[in-house]
Amino acid sequence: MKEILKKAQKEHYALGAFNFSTAEILKATVLAAKELSSPIIVATSEGEGGFIGFREAAALVGVWREAAKLPIILNLDHGKNLDIIKKAVAAGYDAVHFDGSGLSYKENIEQTSKAVKYIREYSKTFDRDVIIEGEIGYLRGASSLHQEKLEIKESDLTSPEQALDFIEQTGVDSLAIVIGNAHGVFAAGEEKLHLDRLAAIKKEVGDKVFLVLHGGSGIPAEDVKKAIELGIVKVNINTELRLAYKAGLEKEFAASPSETTPYKMLQPSIDEVKKVVMEKIKLFGSENKININN
Ligand code: 13P
Repeated sequence: MKEILKKAQKEHYALGAFNFSTAEILKATVLAAKELSSPIIVATSEGEGGFIGFREAAALVGVWREAAKLPIILNLDHGKNLDIIKKAVAAGYDAVHFDGSGLSYKENIEQTSKAVKYIREYSKTFDRDVIIEGEIGYLRGASSLHQEKLEIKESDLTSPEQALDFIEQTGVDSLAIVIGNAHGVFAAGEEKLHLDRLAAIKKEVGDKVFLVLHGGSGIPAEDVKKAIELGIVKVNINTELRLAYKAGLEKEFAASPSETTPYKMLQPSIDEVKKVVMEKIKLFGSENKININN
């Protein structure tokens, strides 16, 4: 699984990490990746995984991986304690994100290090190379549509020196950073990346870690493209999929108010989510990259 991210890092493209909480959102995402021959990461938060079921999510991804013949990494998004990390890997997740960004820096290092130790031991015992991501910086928002103004302070941003210190002390494979990104889509459209900060972080950490951009929804495409050129290898997308899913449902209810067959009612949502995922895959440059060896 790590090879998929290494290849992206070497060739300067990024993998989309697309959140899902239902079988049809996962289906839409896989169909988009299949059509564009793209490796993908699919993810559930604790809440999303709780809804679909952790083992159920892993089983569905396993079936799609074989059926679509695609590299698909299943990731736990924002695990805030060791119990949830353990639950995800035991269910069959390939990657975990330990989010200690709400803790003090010292506490974040301590807790993340424990999670890394657990993952390394687990990987050795079960001969499965599980990927672990840490996070530093203050990421604002939630995965929804925000009417209020986004205000990002200088102190929210990840410090380049701390980024290097954090990866050296914890040994994480991937690092989520804050460079002007936030969860959700802001109606006023003011999300803007501090690309100079990203360049400074990349200069410090080099290729020692996979750099991750959370809050990928609502960021101008040009900024995302430049961030990938500067070293981002994973971009998390959730809100834009949620909005597409809802738009599909609204369209269906307006067009066919008497429809009662779930698989017919849900088709417009699948189509809308698939469209967004295809657009993101093209933007991230992961199209036609499924062959690990070239
Ligand atoms: P968005 O909801 O802004 O796309 O962010 C998703 C995310 O970062 C999941 O961790």
